[in-house]
Amino acid sequence: MEADDSTPKYVFDATRDQPELQRLQAIEAVFDTNTKRRITSTGIAPGWRCLEVGPGAGSILHWLADTVSNEGSVTGLEINPRFLSQRSGYNWSVIEGDIRDVALGEVQFDLIHARYVLIHLPNYQVALERLIAHLKPGGWIVLEEPDFSAARPIYGPDNLVQSVTNVNRAIKTMFTQLGMEYAVGLRLPSVMQGHGFKNLKIENDAPLVNGNTGVAHIMKLSTRQLREKYLATGDANEQDIEAYCQFAEDVNCWGVYYATIGVIAQLPPEK
Ligand SMILES: C[S@@+](CC[C@H](N)C(=O)[O-])C[C@H]1O[C@@H](n2cnc3c(N)ncnc32)[C@H](O)[C@@H]1O
Repeated sequence: MEADDSTPKYVFDATRDQPELQRLQAIEAVFDTNTKRRITSTGIAPGWRCLEVGPGAGSILHWLADTVSNEGSVTGLEINPRFLSQRSGYNWSVIEGDIRDVALGEVQFDLIHARYVLIHLPNYQVALERLIAHLKPGGWIVLEEPDFSAARPIYGPDNLVQSVTNVNRAIKTMFTQLGMEYAVGLRLPSVMQGHGFKNLKIENDAPLVNGNTGVAHIMKLSTRQLREKYLATGDANEQDIEAYCQFAEDVNCWGVYYATIGVIAQLPPEK
């Protein structure tokens, strides 16, 4: 599937720079530790050639570059590289393009990583197949994608809990109307198995957090950014949006905002 005018845009595409950078840096602060652990478990070493899909604010791109050192290299593929102040460094470079149609040439990678990118793609399998075609035999893929079906308020005042439920429904509707899989993470284990991957390691992280911490903070920032899109679904109103943000800020309110499914998988080496 090639991206054209009828392809839905990345939902955060038209967001203002400052709050979007704040949101991406909040994602890095909360999730980088687990991401580095997952990637490290592949045996990544100096000399590896890596592809970082949708690097966002760039922390994992730069960590990969340090990890593979001078002998290796890292390519970042980013549809909107507005938060990467430089486009290249001593062993890394960024290609501005869409994973669905960018030409990557003949290059084959030892490791491909994507976090929270496939969720934004209608027909994500086609993009995934393009990625897999650029993996070396014996190469590793690490995917970390959300499952919004895990989202649920656990504890808080009844009126806020109802609004959080409404906004969670709006999130599901928004992704579905755009042709995107709101629980894409749950699909990935069987999809990767179907592509012949071995050594599958699957993690399902659904943190239960209180307001003003971790994922609650990230989802408050996302909700402020996507307010109009949530309202357009008809599942949540202005009051629900405000109540969701209040719930996500209140240290006495507890909820699961989404789960992250981590998939670590290896292509069989050539015989
Ligand atoms: C939710 S952000 C996650 C950023 C980063 N991976 C992280 O987890 O910190 C999604 C990133 O994917 C990029 N992106 C979205 N659609 C893309 C596409 N079709 N091709 C390449 N990059 C894309 C966005 O610009 C954004 O940087």
